[in-house]
Amino acid sequence: MRPVKIAMPKGRLFAPLVELFTKAGFFDLAPEVDLERRLTLTTADGRWKLLLVKPADVPIYVEYGAADLGVAGKDVLLEASRELCELYDLGVGRCRLIMAVPEESPIQKATDLVPGSRVATKFPRIAQGYFSSHGIQVDIVKLNGSIELAPKARLASAIVDITETGRTLEQNQLKIVEEIMRVSARLICNRISYKVHYPLIQQMVQGLQALEVSKR
Ligand code: PRP
Repeated sequence: MRPVKIAMPKGRLFAPLVELFTKAGFFDLAPEVDLERRLTLTTADGRWKLLLVKPADVPIYVEYGAADLGVAGKDVLLEASRELCELYDLGVGRCRLIMAVPEESPIQKATDLVPGSRVATKFPRIAQGYFSSHGIQVDIVKLNGSIELAPKARLASAIVDITETGRTLEQNQLKIVEEIMRVSARLICNRISYKVHYPLIQQMVQGLQALEVSKR
């Protein structure tokens, strides 16, 4: 039987996710595996093939069927806006999507923004949706990283970004003025793999639920 392919996000979510799937009894990876430059990994029992991709690319791999399952943050899923089934909230990678401005800025909430203000973000779709739904007209500037630099460099008067510990905001003298949403990692699949792998998906969700119950 061919292994089930799961698209996994490289970066800070990867290690906690591997730990979670290992504890739930699904992955058995050799501990000495060098993850630095690996793009694929097969579990020792040959049941799973992990595709290690950029977090924002996980929904693409899953939607096109290049991966049967995947793990992506709720932020990434909303931004990607693709036809996918969200199966389970893994509770890993909990963080917040926020709007922040320089500490010295008089802005205290989104509606204080002057119309046409530039807002830098990695999440243009979510940010645009948020401001539009509040009747605020802004100029969204899409960046690919280091978002906290934008106000300092006078590229934007505000940012919309993810924060976990708050350290990057603090280091860059930024304050949170709005919480847009809470985010965590989700197990996803496409419609075809949902049908084809339904027993496995059931087993996975139950295994993950049981693990959560045992932690309580
Ligand atoms: C994310 C996010 C913030 C930072 C927040 O960036 O975009 O910059 O983490 O984390 P903290 O609240 O714990 O400080 P990431 O590390 O993914 O890199 P990037 O700036 O290249 O997007």
